[in-house]
Amino acid sequence: MSSKKNITALRQKKAIVEKGGGDKAIEKQIAMGKMPARVRILALLDEGSFNEFDLFVQHEERNFGMASKELPGDGVITGTGTINGAPVCIYAQDFTVMGGSLGLKHARKITKIMDHALKMKIPCIGINDSGGARIQEGIGALAGYGEIFYRNTIASGVIPQLSVILGPCAGGAVYSPALTDFVFVVENISKMFITGPNVIETVLGEKISQEDLGGARVHAEITGNAHFYATTEMACFQQIKTLLSLIPHNNDQKAVPVPPKDPKFRRKIENIIPADPRQPYDVRHVIFALTDESKFFEVHELWAANIVIGFGRMDGNTVGFVANQPMYLAGVLDCDASDKAARFIRFCDAFNIPIVTLEDMPGYLPGVDQEHAGVIRHGAKMLYAYSEASVPKMTIILRKAYGGGYIAMNSRHLGADFVYAWPGAEIAVMGPEGAANIIFRKEIMEAEDEEAVRQQKVKEYVEKFANPFVAASKGYIDAVIEPAETRGLLIHALSVSKNKDDHRPKKKHGIPPF
Ligand code: HXC
Repeated sequence: MSSKKNITALRQKKAIVEKGGGDKAIEKQIAMGKMPARVRILALLDEGSFNEFDLFVQHEERNFGMASKELPGDGVITGTGTINGAPVCIYAQDFTVMGGSLGLKHARKITKIMDHALKMKIPCIGINDSGGARIQEGIGALAGYGEIFYRNTIASGVIPQLSVILGPCAGGAVYSPALTDFVFVVENISKMFITGPNVIETVLGEKISQEDLGGARVHAEITGNAHFYATTEMACFQQIKTLLSLIPHNNDQKAVPVPPKDPKFRRKIENIIPADPRQPYDVRHVIFALTDESKFFEVHELWAANIVIGFGRMDGNTVGFVANQPMYLAGVLDCDASDKAARFIRFCDAFNIPIVTLEDMPGYLPGVDQEHAGVIRHGAKMLYAYSEASVPKMTIILRKAYGGGYIAMNSRHLGADFVYAWPGAEIAVMGPEGAANIIFRKEIMEAEDEEAVRQQKVKEYVEKFANPFVAASKGYIDAVIEPAETRGLLIHALSVSKNKDDHRPKKKHGIPPF
């Protein structure tokens, strides 16, 4: 055959396979409000950058009528491309081909692209849209999942791994996303569960819809499995692009800096926190007042809202923010907030992103529910994560820093590099009311006017202990600063810390309170 003929034949062969499950199945996919897998890849990557791997890979299963079945690409599209000009590895399961179910060859296409991402030290993005383990393949499918989970774990902390749930993600399939760094879900499209509604009905006799069991909102708000929630697939792809612009491509690098810009209008930071220490406010306004262009890319926005985490830039460089949110539960730490912050801190530490902590919280949430839910074990994760992190760590105590919360929120004692407090900060073992009631109980009870004495004792306690100057006198905070100085001081601290080198004893790895 002439080379022209060969090329024509190749193009025809490719065109057939690229159609996946065929026109009808693609129409069904679109009717479900979902983009076809190939369209998703092309929409997410920079135009013209996709380079496909393994288009012609075929399954080798011979049982259950599979011998005669051709599955285009074995139900998954894999390859390399660029996003914002930076290289990535990507795969997208194709639901039009046998429900995107995962057989051994399908899995091997995924593990090959994961290996490639790890070798090239570039991010790996997985688009999940699958009925789970291909039932006809039995153990081959289970082996495939295991090989994916193994690679997710080995690559953890070396390259960023992103999971995008754009359809069902059922059974064991959910564990690959759970092992990756960031999970993206889309309203009405994403479904994640270990056991589906039919199994639940059979075993437990309970009827529940896929949406209520494991829809996008369930994972964005209740379980915390999803870090980002979007209303459309295109909005989700924009979130991915923004995230990748803010984080480094691997653990040897730092995030690419961009020339810093001021916002058109920057709110006066000193006017954000109410004078009354019992009044709530939105801590995100403090973050907006600190970042370049007042931009903040929030992670886990809908889950455990009593703590705020996310990325912003200061003087052009990416910073991870961890901030108590007085607007929800007064900003207390609880099981979920501790999990949320601890994992984020570990991501920042693994990927060379300095951490800025903004503190205003009355301590850990008291109560039987929290104790029985394991607030000791979960709370310890934060202590571990901050202590372990060797990236530059800065803390600003905005207002309250009580008890265990004072220690947990990146205190000097856990290795903070810079700790500043605003003049209204209250740093104490507990809130003044509680403290006065305990230590002056006898005097209050014996007084003629109990309430007057109680108020007097609270005042005394505030003056003596609940201020930043006791901590400052001991050197636990470096300076009491004016709020307006905060951005400048943080930028200075970040620039001083550029070459930070914090040696730790040699060990295989620590044993965090998972
Ligand atoms: C083989 C599958 C499949 C699977 C779907 N298909 N899931 N084939 N193995 N796991 C096929 C269907 O037979 C169908 O083929 C096509 O894909 C589309 O599926 P539909 O059911 O028509 O689509 P829909 O109505 O949208 O429902 C999607 C679904 C449902 C909710 C995902 O298919 C479903 O419940 N599938 C099984 C989910 C599940 O229980 N997975 C867990 C597997 S066990 P045709 O030829 O008719 O088009 C597991 C354990 C792994 O994952 C453990 C690893 C640690």
